This record gives sequence, structure tokens and C-alpha cells, in this order.
Amino acid sequence: MDEIRVGVVGLGPRALGTWIPLLARIPGYRITAVCDRIEALHQAALSRVGDPTSVHAYSDYDDVFQDPTVDAVALTIRSRDQGRLAARALEAGKHVHAEVPAAYSVDDCWRLVLAVERSGLTYQLAEQTRYWGFVDAWRGLVSSGRLGHVTLAEGQYFHHYTEGMFQDPRSGELMGPDSIPDHPDAVPTWAQQMPPIHYLPHELSPMLRILDDRVTEVVGMSTGSPSAANPRIAQADMQVALMRTGKGTILRMAASFAQPHPPGNWHWYQLIGTGGRVEWSRTNRDRPKVWLADAQMHDLADVDWRYERTDAPVEARGSGHGDADYYTHISFRDAVFAGRQPPFDIYQAVDTAAPAVLAAQSMAAGSGLLEVPDFRPGPARAVGQAP
Ligand SMILES: NC(=O)c1ccc[n+]([C@@H]2O[C@H](COP(=O)([O-])OP(=O)(O)OC[C@H]3O[C@@H](n4cnc5c(N)ncnc54)[C@H](O)[C@@H]3O)[C@@H](O)[C@H]2O)c1
Repeated sequence: MDEIRVGVVGLGPRALGTWIPLLARIPGYRITAVCDRIEALHQAALSRVGDPTSVHAYSDYDDVFQDPTVDAVALTIRSRDQGRLAARALEAGKHVHAEVPAAYSVDDCWRLVLAVERSGLTYQLAEQTRYWGFVDAWRGLVSSGRLGHVTLAEGQYFHHYTEGMFQDPRSGELMGPDSIPDHPDAVPTWAQQMPPIHYLPHELSPMLRILDDRVTEVVGMSTGSPSAANPRIAQADMQVALMRTGKGTILRMAASFAQPHPPGNWHWYQLIGTGGRVEWSRTNRDRPKVWLADAQMHDLADVDWRYERTDAPVEARGSGHGDADYYTHISFRDAVFAGRQPPFDIYQAVDTAAPAVLAAQSMAAGSGLLEVPDFRPGPARAVGQAP
């Protein structure tokens, strides 16, 4: 196989702005189908694919399954349906490259795991922040022992995203809560249809890659809904998850979409270990920092770590999110060509989803501690066997 024929499902800003342009220019891909329930978006997608005459446009996701010219589904739909529809695509015989978050429930996680194990088809979660340059640097500091035992890892995603919270169901136009009086039919988009804490993959994925670990227990806490910052948004302003990992690190991670935050630097991370600490920049003028306990350092020092990798190929530059969007597409393509799973496999993908889903469950049930299942096969579960 030297070409993957792709059906792109969900034609919102993520597909139109990033996925379709990338699939159109990365060698090895050909878009053969596009799909969205909102037909007004089909033309916008077809105008971006190069030769639209050979591309089928569908309104019903099931038609993409039936299409023999589709080898793989690129899934850029709403987070609520992401896991369920990815599993259905695998069950229908299509490889899947799916947007974050991987799943909306623990049942979704199991269905995905079993669909991959039973089909042998390739599944890649398009979580891209794990390819950032500083993630490699911090991973090296942890694996070499320079930070000692990491006792605390923190991550937060505070993205004031109100302008994408509602959508006109006929035109597909996105809008913020202030436009609702003029658009009473507007429906909530993905950013409002999930508890904010579900959007932890961009925090958990890079931190678990650095720590080479998985979450075993989680507890969550939330402010009330609707948002106090904007009561038209039916979502909590702040949600926090406290987690423990298998190797004994405590994680504190938080997510927020509805309340204002300074624009630009939505993410923030910190690792504190028995041998030192690293932290991401606090402001757009600030720099990331390091302090090592055994290096005669009286204060933290600035380091020019960036999202962008120093070894990024020309094709990666400008692909989105500090050049990182390119890497999931390359990883997925190479895995499909080789008939294997990508290095960031289904088990690591659900490791980024299940703790977030369970944090939301904990919040809804009075903030009790919940155990996070290990989805890998072992003595208690054979490959392909339901738990
Ligand atoms: N990795 C990242 O950095 C990143 C950034 C932004 C968004 N995302 C993810 O990408 C996804 C899409 O984001 P978006 O902003 O484009 O969302 P969006 O809601 O604007 O667009 C999704 C589109 O999918 C369509 N759709 C939903 N269910 C469908 C179905 N069953 N069949 C056909 N079409 C369907 C909707 O009509 C909509 O047009 C979200 O799940 C989000 O989590 C990831």
C-alpha cells in the first residue's frame, strides 16, 4: 500500500483549517470522501481538496463506512461522539485517525480497545502536543534521573473559547453567546457539550509521555454550571482533577473554556522532583525555567524551550499548534503502510481519556476517589476479550 484513501468526517474549523489542507499536501494521502450533517459545509471542504470531482460528499456517516473508496476515516466531529464513531468505523473495516478526546465514557474506551484488538486495523489519536520540542527535553531530564523522583506534575488548559461555543445548524456558522438573541436556533458545539475536564488529553498525553506512566486513581472537583462568567454557557468555569500514577507521582490538572484568560499561552505545565524542577512560561514574555538541586543554582534559570522542535522538517513548519499537527499524520500514515499500530497506541490513547472521563464522574458524584482501569491485555484479559 502506498496511498491511503481518506474520508474526512466532521467539516468544522478543525477539518477545514488544518486536517484537509494537511491531508492534501502530505504524500501518501488522497481525500476520497467528505462528510458533515450540515450540507452547507460540503462546498467549503470540496474547495480545499485539489480535484473535487473524484470526492464523494455525504451527509450521513454510515455512507462513509459503505464507501469502498475509503480506506481510513479522519474523524473531526464532536468530542461527545468521537469514541463511539471511531469504534464503529473500525468495526466497519476502516483505519481511524481521530481527534481528541478519544472517548466520552469508559465504555467508549473499552469499545475502542476491543475494536482495535479484534480488527487489527490502525487507530491513531491525533493528540499532537506530545510531539512538542520541550516535551522531548523534559522526557530526557526525567529518564536520565536529573529530576530525581517526580513527585508532582501539573498541567492546565485554560482556553477562553466562547466564540466557538454555538453553531447555526443550517449554515454551520460558529458564534459566541452574545449572538444567541439573533440566532435562537443555534446549537452548542463540542466545546460546550462536554465537561471541560474531558479535554485533558493535551495535558495528560505529554505529561504521561514524559513520565512514561499511567494514571491509576482520580478525584475531581468542579465549580457550578452554568458559567458565572457567562450564564448563557451551560458549563462550569473551572474543573480540576487530582490523580495518582502507577509510579507514585501526583498529577494536578485543570481545564476551563468559559471564563476569560489572557490570550495566547493556553497551556501551562510543571514537574517537581526530588532532584529539581522544570516549569513552562507563565506569560507570553516569560521563558520556561529549570532548577537542579545538585547544580549550585540559587534560583530557577530561563531556558529557551519551545513548542517548535529544533529538528522539525520543512514540511512540519506552520502545520499548526507549534508545528506539531504534522506529526500525528505522519505517524498514522507510516503505521497504516506498515500494517501496525502507531507508537502512541490505543492503550496510551485511552490512558489520556479514561482519567478525564472518571474525573467528571467523580465531580458528579460528590468528589469520591475512582480507580482507573488498565486497558492492556494481561493474565486477566486476553487480546480481543471483553473485560
Ligand atoms: N487537537 C486539537 O488541537 C484540536 C483543536 C480543536 C478541536 N479539536 C477537536 O476536533 C473536533 C472538531 O472540532 P471543530 O472545532 O471543528 O468542531 P465543530 O463542532 O465546529 O465541527 C464538527 C463538525 O462535525 C459535524 N458532525 C458532528 N457529528 C456528525 C456526524 N455524526 N456525522 C457527520 N457530521 C457530524 C458537525 O455538524 C460539525 O460541522 C472536536 O472534537 C475537538 O475536540 C482538536
